Amino acid sequence: MARKTPSFVCQNCGTVYGRWQGKCDACGEWSTIIEETADAQVPVSGRGGRKGRRFVLEPLAGENQDAPRLPAGIPEFDRVTGGGFVRGSVLLVGGDPGIGKSTLLIQVTAAIARAGHRAVYISGEEAVAQVRLRAERLGLASAPVELASETSVEDIVATLSEGKPPQLVIIDSIQTMWTDTVESAPGTVTQVRGSAQALIRFAKKSGTALILVGHVTKDGQIAGPRVVEHMVDAVMSFEGEGSHQFRILRALKNRFGPTDEIGVFEMTGSGLSEIANPSELFLSGRELGSPGTAVFAGIEGTRPLLVEIQALVAPTSLGTPRRAVVGWDQSRLAMVLAVLEAHCGVKLSGHDVYLNVAGGLRIQEPAADLAAAAALVSSLTNAPLPTDGVYFGEVSLSGNVRPVAQAASRLKEAAKLGFARAFAAEAARSEAGNDAGLAVTPVESLANLVADIAAKGVPPRRRSAQGG
Ligand code: TYD
Ligand code: MG
Repeated sequence: MARKTPSFVCQNCGTVYGRWQGKCDACGEWSTIIEETADAQVPVSGRGGRKGRRFVLEPLAGENQDAPRLPAGIPEFDRVTGGGFVRGSVLLVGGDPGIGKSTLLIQVTAAIARAGHRAVYISGEEAVAQVRLRAERLGLASAPVELASETSVEDIVATLSEGKPPQLVIIDSIQTMWTDTVESAPGTVTQVRGSAQALIRFAKKSGTALILVGHVTKDGQIAGPRVVEHMVDAVMSFEGEGSHQFRILRALKNRFGPTDEIGVFEMTGSGLSEIANPSELFLSGRELGSPGTAVFAGIEGTRPLLVEIQALVAPTSLGTPRRAVVGWDQSRLAMVLAVLEAHCGVKLSGHDVYLNVAGGLRIQEPAADLAAAAALVSSLTNAPLPTDGVYFGEVSLSGNVRPVAQAASRLKEAAKLGFARAFAAEAARSEAGNDAGLAVTPVESLANLVADIAAKGVPPRRRSAQGG
């Protein structure tokens, strides 16, 4: 038996230390380092001194085998995986506890099983009866899913290796799994890594598509299994605000598909249902005509998505005014505020600024600059924006409005949802042509937009100039 050297592993990021310390130098977390036994690696016994096997090197230009895919038949889910599961691929699905990972995956498993494939669902967290109960509630009880409540990786691999290999295996969750080859306690980084390694090896060998469920830590990392992120083919996060019904499945890494697609679901009494037209959902409950809100015509992946951006600009009582943003990038807000101050004469240094993307969606596009600026100015001047207008465009540091990609599909979506005009860079109008279905008001610079909005706001004596 090899001598075991103790090592100290950060449970947040997986960094290994030779001795214990209070703070992890790598990720800065306190009290996350615990002692583990350092033989997480695959045992090398029996392979010592083995000569390397020769293999054939192939030219880059060869016969192309398209990876055959196994679609779940749930379009919102398949969109994110890139058209279905690839044989032997491993997918990590992360998300907060209670967000609906188990619900989503039992629905996917049932759909695959109903299509006549062998699908296995292994829960390390719930008893078989609990999983059954949930399936019954979801109306899936009749699906030929094979079910088990197990946590030993060796037992799982032995069981699954028998007979025809399954097309799909769900492991819910990877943190509950443990393997004999590692001595640390279940849930520790070493155990999670060891278990994932063994399961991934099984998936690659048998051609089974494997889904690992992972919990996320408080800062949103799929950690503990942070180490697992590098071992799998795709990482997806299942997100949502606790207080909202909708959930978003987002690909963070995908070796076999796009990483910018999202799948939108709604949590209902009978499980997750797909939202084919998310714009309607994100715009529902909109307060028409109140100052400080602008509709942004965005794009998520290949799909246009309209959301409301809300701003509140209020006089501050603090020495350093507050800048708080939910659902958008803090540094982009700072940039837009700086451009407003420098080029548009909008003084915000005495104001607190709050910006929120309605519905709990997170926007990453710079195209939201114009909508955010419009909402901010609208709130500051107490001037409601036109209720039938959408905004999109990137704002440059010089205050110009730059065109953004896919203007035509943004406009089409806006027209479909009943909007009559769009404020965007000049180029959007020519790109969309005559069949856009709505009028494009070209915005050359942010200063123009600010002047237009401010002209309609208080003080009232300036209102008569422009009207409606
Ligand atoms: P679950 O899938 O267990 O979450 P996770 O696996 O990510 O921890 O979902 C739990 C929540 O979902 C729970 O708060 C109840 C809710 N839920 C519904 O609203 N409707 C349903 O049909 C189901 C099964 C769950
Ligand atoms: Mg669960």
